Order: sequence, then structure tokens, then C-alpha cells
Amino acid sequence: MKPRVLVTKRIYPSAVEYLRQHVDAEYHESDDGYGAEQLLEHLTGKQAVVSQLTDKFSADVIAALPDLKVISNVAVGYDNIDIAAATQRRIVVTNTPDVLTDTTADFAFTLLMATARRLVEADKYLRVGKWTQWRIDLLTGHDIHHATLGILGMGRIGQTLARRARGFEMRAIYSDVQRAAPELERELQLEYLPFDSVLEQSDFISVHVPLLAATRHLLGAEQFARMKKNAILINTSRGPVVDEAALADALAAGEIAGAGLDVFEREPQVEPRLLDMDNVVLAPHIASASVDTRTKMCVMAAENCVTALAGTRPPNLVNTAVFE
Ligand code: GLV
Repeated sequence: MKPRVLVTKRIYPSAVEYLRQHVDAEYHESDDGYGAEQLLEHLTGKQAVVSQLTDKFSADVIAALPDLKVISNVAVGYDNIDIAAATQRRIVVTNTPDVLTDTTADFAFTLLMATARRLVEADKYLRVGKWTQWRIDLLTGHDIHHATLGILGMGRIGQTLARRARGFEMRAIYSDVQRAAPELERELQLEYLPFDSVLEQSDFISVHVPLLAATRHLLGAEQFARMKKNAILINTSRGPVVDEAALADALAAGEIAGAGLDVFEREPQVEPRLLDMDNVVLAPHIASASVDTRTKMCVMAAENCVTALAGTRPPNLVNTAVFE
């Protein structure tokens, strides 16, 4: 008998085809995920789930699913899953790294440029017919070239952003719990600095850390107060890494100059004050959203799921302890 797998939400068709070739798949072909109760109902008796970041696997949910062996998340982040609880139950958890690195770094840079050069504001200005003449100070913004880019978290996406920054001749400084290899620092001309120094010296600060207990509200009132008045914050990681209310306070007080945000503390809700600010560019969690990348993520998740169900160590294993 083929293993039974739930796909909780719509994914790209090639991944569904692959799953159907290998497993007995129940496909919830909908953009609305299941609520907590429905999720449990549909997962009862399933050996695996292809999940998305809106599906919450708390310790309680995991405890209620004795048959579950694999959680294959269609995302690089996996803060929607209680990894300790899954590991204790020897449930294999997988994610979809690498395939989204370039696309996500591209989008972080897109947000950086759009915010610095006031692109969204300019587009609105023109469309509502406000453009009547060329003006010396019309929609003047911040230079990107030769500015200092502070990268918080020098993982795959942070490194790729640093590569983008070289093309703009930016100075790249970073902080991380672990210092990068000297060859990488040399290649990307990175300067490793204490966290507070990165905050104090950067013109742009881009966040690339995972959401963990230690990174929740990594940036709050105290950190915004340290930043330069012209600083622009970019967040494509996870919303709760930034204290959104404190960010709105800092922007309103002119402590920093702007923000480009793809992720939010309580998605899909956004701190209402941010919605009224012209110096903030907002996007609905789409940093990895190119057709190619999202397709690759879905196929990768399907492959991770099938491999793990076969008892083989999947390539994108999150909780390595399960295979030790
Ligand atoms: C998206 O946010 C992801 O983690 O892949």
C-alpha cells in the first residue's frame, strides 16, 4: 500500500504529479489552508504532509498525529513547526533551501532600491495626475551606490545579497552569531562587526536571520534608536524578527528614514500606521515568488517527502538528529 500524504494547500502541478506517481496523495487544491481542527481531521491516518508556512505544527498538533512520519515544508523557513516536538517523535522535517536563495536576494535588493528611490510613491504620484512639471527636488531619495549595507545574518541569502551589493560598489558590513570564512569575507569584501556597530554604521540594514527565540524582536526601539537617521530597513526574513509597533514609532519619529518590508508580525495583518507611510514599501511575503523558484520549491518538497517516506535521509533534512 502506498503511504498516505496530505498536501494542505495549492502547489504547482508538477509537484502534485510527482507525488501522485509515488504516494497516495490527498490534495487540497485551494489557496485557503485548513484551520487547526480541519488540519487535524485531514491529517489523521496520513504518514506525511506537504505543508506551507501558514500550517502550524505545534507540539499539541504533533502529539495528536501518531501516524505522522514526515513534515515536508514548502519553504526555507520552518518556524511554523515545533522542531523539538517533531524530533522527539522522530518525525522527519524538511525544507526547501538553495532554490530560492537568488530570487529572495533579488527581492531584498528590489525592496532596497524601491524604498531608497521612492519608486512606489513616484508611480502613485504620476498615476493620480500630480506630475505637472520637472522639478529639481521632485521625489529625491537616497543613493544606493557607495552606501553602507548592513547585513544581519550571513547565511545563503545574506551572502547572495552581498554579491548584489558589490555591483553597486557598496560597503558591506555584517553581523552574525558565527563569523564567515575568511575566503568568503575576502571574496565579497565583507567586514564583520559587532551587532550594534552594524546598526550604527549602516545606510541600509537587511535582515537575513531565521526566526528563533533568540531573534524574536531582534530589532526594537533600542536598536532603531541606534540607527542612522537616513537608515532604511529591509526585511525579507520573518516578521517577528522586527518589533513592528516599534518600527512604526521609529519611522513616525524620524529616527530612521524608511523601510521595505515583505514579512510582518501577524500576517496577513500589517501594523496600520505603516500602511499610511509613503517612506515604507510593503509586499505580501513574495520574496521567493518567481514562477521558476516557486515551482522548484514545490518539486523539492515533493521529492523530500517521497525520499523520507522511503526511509532514506532526504537531502534537505532539518532535524538531522532523526537520522543519527
Ligand atoms: C518563505 O518565506 C520561505 O521561508 O521560504
